[in-house]
Amino acid sequence: MAEQKAAHYFASLSAQVRDKTYVPALTEDFELWKKDHIHTSSWLSLLSRSKRKPDSSDYYKYIQWLNSTGKLDAYLDRSVSYIYMRDLGKALDSTDTQTRIQRVVGDVKNYFLQSTATKGGELTEYMSVAGAYRWAQKEGVEDATIWVINKLRSVSAHIPEGMNAEQAQRKLIKIIVGVVLHVIEEMDDDLLPAERACRLDEAIRLGYSYGLTYPFIDDLLDSQVLNTQEKEQYSRMIRSAIITGAVPEWGEWGGNNKELLHFIHSELRDAFKYIKRYQRPETEKTFFEQSYVFFHSQDMDRAKELSNPNYSNEELYVPIILKSSSSRLIVRSVIRAPVDEGFNHRTFCYGIYNQLADDFADMFDDMRDGAVTPYTYYLTYHGQRKDLINPFELYWAVIAHLIHNVYRSDAKTREVILDRAINGLKRCKQRVGIEKYNEIMAIFASGIPEFNRLIQHLVRKADDVDFLDKLLRDHMVTVLKNERKEKEQFFDTIKTVRDQINELLPIPKHHGIPAMKETLIDAANYSLEGDGKRLRPMLAWVMGIQEYGLNASAIVPLLRSLEYMHTASLIFDDLPSQDNASTRRGRPTLHQAHNSATAELTGLFLIQKAIEEQASLNGFDASTVLALMRYSSQKAADICMGQAMDLQSKGKALTLEQMNMICFYKTGIAFEACLVMPAILAQVTETEMAALQTFAYHAGIAFQIKDDLLDYEGDQHVLGKPVGKDAENNTSTFVTILGDEGARREMWEHYCLASEALRAVPRNTSFLKHLLNYLVNRDR
Ligand code: IPE
Ligand code: IPE
Ligand code: MG
Ligand code: MG
Ligand code: MG
Repeated sequence: MAEQKAAHYFASLSAQVRDKTYVPALTEDFELWKKDHIHTSSWLSLLSRSKRKPDSSDYYKYIQWLNSTGKLDAYLDRSVSYIYMRDLGKALDSTDTQTRIQRVVGDVKNYFLQSTATKGGELTEYMSVAGAYRWAQKEGVEDATIWVINKLRSVSAHIPEGMNAEQAQRKLIKIIVGVVLHVIEEMDDDLLPAERACRLDEAIRLGYSYGLTYPFIDDLLDSQVLNTQEKEQYSRMIRSAIITGAVPEWGEWGGNNKELLHFIHSELRDAFKYIKRYQRPETEKTFFEQSYVFFHSQDMDRAKELSNPNYSNEELYVPIILKSSSSRLIVRSVIRAPVDEGFNHRTFCYGIYNQLADDFADMFDDMRDGAVTPYTYYLTYHGQRKDLINPFELYWAVIAHLIHNVYRSDAKTREVILDRAINGLKRCKQRVGIEKYNEIMAIFASGIPEFNRLIQHLVRKADDVDFLDKLLRDHMVTVLKNERKEKEQFFDTIKTVRDQINELLPIPKHHGIPAMKETLIDAANYSLEGDGKRLRPMLAWVMGIQEYGLNASAIVPLLRSLEYMHTASLIFDDLPSQDNASTRRGRPTLHQAHNSATAELTGLFLIQKAIEEQASLNGFDASTVLALMRYSSQKAADICMGQAMDLQSKGKALTLEQMNMICFYKTGIAFEACLVMPAILAQVTETEMAALQTFAYHAGIAFQIKDDLLDYEGDQHVLGKPVGKDAENNTSTFVTILGDEGARREMWEHYCLASEALRAVPRNTSFLKHLLNYLVNRDR
């Protein structure tokens, strides 16, 4: 039925191409349209050179420029309208839709102007994890957001080399946002906050569950990651999942991608279950039918080969009409929205418009990959196949059809669609260069010379046709790329720095010392040699050397002292009189390997060694070193108090405030010290110091909450220390007072506060940012 319907639609569109009825209609539309888009330059505009349009890749400047030239409202209006049309399937001539659009425009404008005013040029916040979490707090959907953040991280870690990771992530995020927006649109304004939160929670999980199919079904099958046999087996699995409503059990898989496929299988199975549980019988049927149409049409499209000269127009276009519309129709059925014939009709007609615009933009990439799209096929065969429909002409026919037949010649719709069409051509021209662009046009537009002259005139002269979603898209890809690169750098750095720190730590046994003195040194080295993460000296290293430009060898004593003190604190913490732990850093604790007395003495010994190291900071002037030592001793004393508070609190019902205080004292302070001590040596300003302290305060607490969570749910083999100790000792932790979900929320709250604190640090904070990510995401 779907194929018949699509064939019917295609027949009516091709008739319009053949008869060129769209040409006079669109010519008239463009004549009206251009009044607002072609500005003859006057002497006045020559005077205002300072208001030159900035490059849109400079996000912040661009929004400001739009605002200062009075263009921001129209820009947001066309962008939001477009999203209402494309993603939400709305008709713009409804007053209700108009009211909603105006409200969103107002909100987005406020948001932009506020953030450009306060954040001094940084507008990436809302694309960050912290930005997402802040939104989640406002809506009361923290748990689903934490869940989806972890899911996205795990997907990103599993995207294989042969796929474009940023595009895959971007699409997945886009689907999640799309589903959430759709649900927001379906909700009444007077819904109770709790009910609203509940629906948004579901929307996030549904969005992920459905969105997963983009990277892991469509992109994966498009890529060269799987071999032919794997692809066949995988396709069979998906098909059977859609038909039976359940992902089949994990069976026998050959090939090199077992691990990847196993991960995908288990994610898809959970996703399927989630969607299915959420559906009602009548919507479930629609959902699976649409999914089948979607998958099947994609599959037919994929199976085509550019070397085959015999595809008919129907064979080329029917799957395109189906895949592009079903992908959007599904969004509505996945959220169980009531049937809306208007939506179905608009979305069905709209899909191919979008697909033709996308395929036009990707023409050369697709050509390179040998993918069959209307454009690549036409480029290859238009010389020998006079019957082939020209996709560019079809594109205009679809536009005319949408404006006049689907959207009833609505002026706003005309405005938005034509803006978009001219913008698409402008972007193409800019990307491929004038010469290549003209070549393309010579091939595709030669059959409609007069209309083409008008179009090209508009492409050259018309203005104010750009869209926020394009800006966001470009921006998101840049952000994701940078993040990935920075993250790789971060892990490289921590690996090399850790290796170097490990070299520095062992306490030497100088030639000729009596054997009896050796035992304590051996015991100290035993504890130091364990598999510690070395986070504290690493922090001091990176900040001291990379950011403050201190001499590497000059700060070696500081690095040693930090790890010595930390290791001493662990030795004490593990003693029977404190946490009574039997393993640490993957080996028996020191009091287990020897006895408590040796452990106590080794702890003291390490602290004294730390002080000796600090007193050997010869590369700095004496008063600076004294200031550092004074600070260090005060902080070590504070940590003792933190441990005492921790032990006294056993079994007590603490308030969150008390808990934060204990954690800051027992753990946060050590992180602060690692940032502050190199800063003392570098003599940074008071304000910078304060910003570092704020960061350390929150990062330190976030670290301890993660530690508590790992004690509650971690894997002791990965951790290298026992789990369940806190419960056994009746220790009060974030998990005992807030529960695990509450603890996770509190951790993310501190995560946000720490990343917000970074804005006030006048350095390159990329390392600190990724360290923070690492602290909350680690599993050891
Ligand atoms: C453990 O610190 C003690 C706490 C403050 C929770 P780490 O988790 O940094 O331990 P190592 O140094 O890697 O062993
Ligand atoms: C220890 O906290 C803090 C210090 C060692 C100062 P925990 O007792 O939670 O640390 P682990 O879990 O034993 O590493
Ligand atoms: Mg403890
Ligand atoms: Mg402990
Ligand atoms: Mg612990």
